[in-house]
Amino acid sequence: MNRREFTAALAAGALSTWGGGRHRLPWMSGAPGRRVNGDRLNRHLAELARFGANPQGGVTRVAYSDADKQAREYVMGLMREARLTPTIDTAGNIIASRAGTDPNRKPILFGSHIDSVPEGGSYDGNVGSMAAIEVAQTLGEHGTTTRHPLQVTIWQNEEGGLYGSRAVSGQLTQAELSNVSNSGKTIAEGIAFLGGDVARIAEARRQRGDIAGYLELHIEQGGTLEREQIDIGVVEGIVGIKQWEVTVTGFANHAGTTPMDQRHDALLAASRFVEAVNRIVTGMPGRQVGTVGRLQAFPGAPNVIPGRVVCTLELRDLDAAKIDALHEAIVAESTRIGAQNGTTFAFRMLHENVPAPSDPRVRALIAAAARELGLTTKVMPSGAGHDAQAMATLGPMGMIFIPSIGGISHAPKELSLPNDIVNGANVLLGALLRMDQMASG
Ligand code: GLV
Ligand code: MN
Ligand code: MN
Repeated sequence: MNRREFTAALAAGALSTWGGGRHRLPWMSGAPGRRVNGDRLNRHLAELARFGANPQGGVTRVAYSDADKQAREYVMGLMREARLTPTIDTAGNIIASRAGTDPNRKPILFGSHIDSVPEGGSYDGNVGSMAAIEVAQTLGEHGTTTRHPLQVTIWQNEEGGLYGSRAVSGQLTQAELSNVSNSGKTIAEGIAFLGGDVARIAEARRQRGDIAGYLELHIEQGGTLEREQIDIGVVEGIVGIKQWEVTVTGFANHAGTTPMDQRHDALLAASRFVEAVNRIVTGMPGRQVGTVGRLQAFPGAPNVIPGRVVCTLELRDLDAAKIDALHEAIVAESTRIGAQNGTTFAFRMLHENVPAPSDPRVRALIAAAARELGLTTKVMPSGAGHDAQAMATLGPMGMIFIPSIGGISHAPKELSLPNDIVNGANVLLGALLRMDQMASG
């Protein structure tokens, strides 16, 4: 089904099957009528923003920092108030359960993350995390017990590369546990710091079919919804992301006595590399993006020609094959750049988030939940990575976006409006109840 057919089917209410059934199901017409407590939700979000608050007005709460750990304690307190039972799995994720009426059913998972990028904002991940707890609390206050057990999931180190959710989906490799996170701790040290147990990390793993479904509310992080004045984004797919550490090796030498034509300047080669990444990525048609986001020159003195540079390369696209084609072109170009001044380039892959389409049935129930609330929707891709893409390998996944003001994210000026946050949480609640009705697992 292409996008146009999908939209037409949605409008006609035809996408009403889960697990191959042929009947019109209650979630297409049912109006659960429950609403979250918006004031409480926005208050919790403001309280959470105090952990790691940065002077620029956002948060610096990188995974495995003290601020991250303290915020997790706060979150687990909220979970208990919402009469959930939080536990920390061996991968360091917070998993808070609520029993369903049928213990034989697989759980429905919903949640997000509370770690941030360095100098980040207070909404990325936090909105979906606070909303998930609010939804659970609302269900409790209405005396509603779902058929499926529920699990509110706060994934650890989303920003570093979906480390917590990929441990659960089985995509995390042993070698990645030695990667150094933004906190300075390795992933293994970070997991231990959060209360996980790396030696038993395999116990956190789930298999395809172990979950009835996964839902995540998130800020859009782009400017489309605000620009087009749409309330809710229904995510059709999440980009794939690959990141590499790139080491450029030259020769450190005296900056005063080494003639210009005898230098093996690693920083000069790295500068050409940065330009080449931009040129190659923009040289192909499509929406792919490529970034060199970190670069360090060694030994790093004004009077020494840099002998070594360590930088990062990140490539994103909905098509994994395109990421690989771009990478191949960039590696070939780096060899050419290195030959110009006697330097070499080495690429070490840090991690991969595989591209993930959302499940069309979950998209349809998110749209139905929004429609019931009188909210406008748009089906759209996600250019940001999300834990939902790891969960998509385990069961039907759907994501709900709300507008980001000015399309600013991963920056202190990130902002979503209280009313949009409440709308998003109510759509999450409605979508969850519909999924509970329709999911067969
Ligand atoms: C996560 O927010 C990412 O897209 O990098
Ligand atoms: Mn996020
Ligand atoms: Mn982010």
